[in-house]
Amino acid sequence: MAFTIKVNGAEHRIDVDGDTPLLWVLRDVLGMTGTKFGCGMALCGACTVHLNGAATRSCVTRVESIGDAAVTTIEAIGTTAAGRKIQKAWLDLEVVQCGYCQSGQVMSASALLASNPRPNDADIDNAMSGNICRCGTYVRIREAIKHAARSSAATGKGG
Ligand code: FES
Ligand code: FES
Repeated sequence: MAFTIKVNGAEHRIDVDGDTPLLWVLRDVLGMTGTKFGCGMALCGACTVHLNGAATRSCVTRVESIGDAAVTTIEAIGTTAAGRKIQKAWLDLEVVQCGYCQSGQVMSASALLASNPRPNDADIDNAMSGNICRCGTYVRIREAIKHAARSSAATGKGG
């Protein structure tokens, strides 16, 4: 079945079954492999993308459910204000270890910062608790989100 989906600002015409997960469309049809497969059951967060700015698990998002929502992936998150700050903070604090979970971590953190420019610890825990990191980078992730929030405060710009 044919669908048109908008990913990172561009429209893509795809021909897949309606129940195909967005994750497979991104990786296998569109060749955007920055979004990772971890569990396939909305349990790990590795596959997180944004749908109209909201962090969404693409492994359980059927392509037929997307409609005209804007999909943003890790390939384009650096073009958003919050995503740019998060990526810089990740580099400044050297968050990444093996890296496998980090696309999803960056996407969840960017959605948080865009909606809440000054998140407290509880806000961070709430937004990030579904993103699992087997390397245990949680402490650096929390610090990097705060670092990005401070840079938002310094420039007077949120999200
Ligand atoms: S692969 Fe989607 S949440 Fe784990
Ligand atoms: S950095 Fe290795 S799983 Fe998170």
